[in-house]
Amino acid sequence: MTQALEWKGSYLRIIDQTRLPFQKVYVDLHTIQDVHHAIRSMQVRGAPVIGITAAYGLYLGVKDFPNDHISQFQDQVAAHAEYLKSARPTAVNLAWAVDSITNKLRQLQITDVEQGKRFLLEQAQALHDDDRRRCEGIAQNGVPLIPQRARILTHCNTGALATGGIGTALGIIYKAHQNGKEVVVYADETRPFLQGARLTVWELQQAGIPVTLICDNMAAWLMKQGHVDLVLVGADRITRHGYVANKIGTYNLAILAHHHKIPFYVAAPISTFDFQLEHGDDIPIEERDCEEIRNILGRCEVAPANTSCWNPAFDVTPPEFVTAIITEAGVIETPVSENIRQLKENLKLTIH
Ligand code: MRU
Repeated sequence: MTQALEWKGSYLRIIDQTRLPFQKVYVDLHTIQDVHHAIRSMQVRGAPVIGITAAYGLYLGVKDFPNDHISQFQDQVAAHAEYLKSARPTAVNLAWAVDSITNKLRQLQITDVEQGKRFLLEQAQALHDDDRRRCEGIAQNGVPLIPQRARILTHCNTGALATGGIGTALGIIYKAHQNGKEVVVYADETRPFLQGARLTVWELQQAGIPVTLICDNMAAWLMKQGHVDLVLVGADRITRHGYVANKIGTYNLAILAHHHKIPFYVAAPISTFDFQLEHGDDIPIEERDCEEIRNILGRCEVAPANTSCWNPAFDVTPPEFVTAIITEAGVIETPVSENIRQLKENLKLTIH
């Protein structure tokens, strides 16, 4: 399974996801600016993995910190945290990773800059390992929801390329396949960045799981023909009332699934929950360059040069369309909002 990133001792190596599957190009990130650029340009993408990348970025930003003034060091880390968070606004995993590490650093009250540097690297590596375990937990909890024979429609890419492990929604599919379930996947192409066509199809083909590519506008008809048993997607941010931000086009699928009485599952780690937000309208939605729509991957123009476009990268699905949210800590059934509150209490999460 091709992993999105690898720590190489003093720098971070990522696989450039803008070039996949046509070229396997690795990019080495040595500085915090490299990290910011890789996240912003989507060379590395997917909610959990941009959190991990940013965590390594915090370390890279201070690894050559020139003096031993601890308060200057702390100020530098705080400024870097804001810089990294500005790379992409919707996936809360990025802010969650950066904020939880900087909060811990502050609480440590370190007196030595070298100790601070070591701490940041250890935290990034721990987060990376932790995400691997979270993916396994999601897969374990999700597999029982998959029928012995299942035709699954998915959107965007939620696999090894998007996480530190086997993936979220795709991780469940991998595990179901390993456990002998007969799963076949329909992958939405996921315009405009084509994460479904380029990344999900590629990952599934490598794993030997049957996959059929469809254009995003074919899902309704596919469901109407009776070819979909369930929809399974990931998430970039889930509010405490169960509003789910995910790749643009997810909301369409949720409405369609509801209309056709098909289960609609969301798979995400607890790090994707934003317990501070209630409603979907509060989630910041990234808007990207129009060139991504006018041009397919910068290669082929599909509209007149100056065509006006609108390019929101995410949408928000309200909880009434979500059958269940599958996490590493358990499955949150409807009523989603009440059960998220319950789960948070059970986990004794201190975030409000
Ligand atoms: O813009 P992207 O490719 O970063 O968006 C990714 C998604 O929307 C995924 O569905 C989500 O991050 C879950 S990944 C496990």
